[in-house]
Amino acid sequence: MRVPSRFTTVTFVISMWLLIRMKLHPNRVQLSSQTNPSLLSMAPQLTTTYVTVSQDLPTITSSAEVTQETQIDGDGKHLSDLAGTVDGVIVMAKLQKEDTNWVGEHLPEWKNAIYTVDNTSAPLYTSVNKGKESMVYLTYIIDNYFTLPETLVFLHSHRDGYPTGWHTDAPEYDNVNSVRMLKLDFVQRSGYVNLRCIWIPGCPDEIQPYREQYEEHREPEHATRDAWRYIFNNTDIPSTIGVACCSQFAVSRDQVRARPLEDYQRYRQWLLDTELSDEVSGRVFEYFWHIIFGKESVQ
Ligand SMILES: *[C@@H]1O[C@H](CO)[C@@H](O)[C@H](O)[C@H]1NC(C)=O
Ligand SMILES: *[C@@H]1O[C@H](CO)[C@@H](O)[C@H](O)[C@H]1NC(C)=O
Repeated sequence: MRVPSRFTTVTFVISMWLLIRMKLHPNRVQLSSQTNPSLLSMAPQLTTTYVTVSQDLPTITSSAEVTQETQIDGDGKHLSDLAGTVDGVIVMAKLQKEDTNWVGEHLPEWKNAIYTVDNTSAPLYTSVNKGKESMVYLTYIIDNYFTLPETLVFLHSHRDGYPTGWHTDAPEYDNVNSVRMLKLDFVQRSGYVNLRCIWIPGCPDEIQPYREQYEEHREPEHATRDAWRYIFNNTDIPSTIGVACCSQFAVSRDQVRARPLEDYQRYRQWLLDTELSDEVSGRVFEYFWHIIFGKESVQ
């Protein structure tokens, strides 16, 4: 029997989407949901006061380990000669057990700020592990607001491979390739650039705050209206928010500073106070970042 090709295409796209949602979503963020138990007991009071704990950016140490024989970039330059040549920083959240040495080894031209969320003895850490990577992203911006480099790249901690790196759509799902391929002048012109191009999941209408049908798996969507009022301090809540998923993006210093420091402090306060699970509060930010950095709700 002949099947209309449009039907086949639609079925394929829907199947892929379902597959990705059901099978892969739980793996999308490496940080596990380790909410501090003492914080849980405090949650109803909603009066957490955050004391900043981060320190100056660590100096790049790993570039010294780069051997000149093996590490040569596309232009034939030795990576060790590139150390610190980009006026930019890679901001990352990691668990203690995760190996992020690849950042300094393969992207030595960037500064990096890698926060360990579950070890307060680490060089950079957050006092609370909440809201997945968003706590780290906001903490970096808040603590470095007046000394930001020109470009900020927010990345996840695992480097590459499938399926763990599925949300990185550079060749080999490799974040090193993703950063290397980034056009820095475009980041400066655009202000915000999502590192993912593939539409699914997220586009074109993942979050619909006024959707009539209640679906249990759409908790971040249900949380969006309240969160919007607090985060953006207005009631102009869009009917649709759509952006390629996964919270890996680059922004310019100017775009970050288009908002006052107090805005970012307020966002983090929401994260500290919310009783939503990490999975949900992290996902709320996942669909807010592009709006925070000046883009339309549907990107
Ligand atoms: C926490 O970080 C410190 C400093 O990097 C390290 O010495 C210590 O072993 C880490 N703790 C755990 C439990 O891994
Ligand atoms: C929120 O918006 C109101 C009304 O526009 C304004 O008066 C208030 O200062 C804003 N609050 C913050 C924290 O920006």
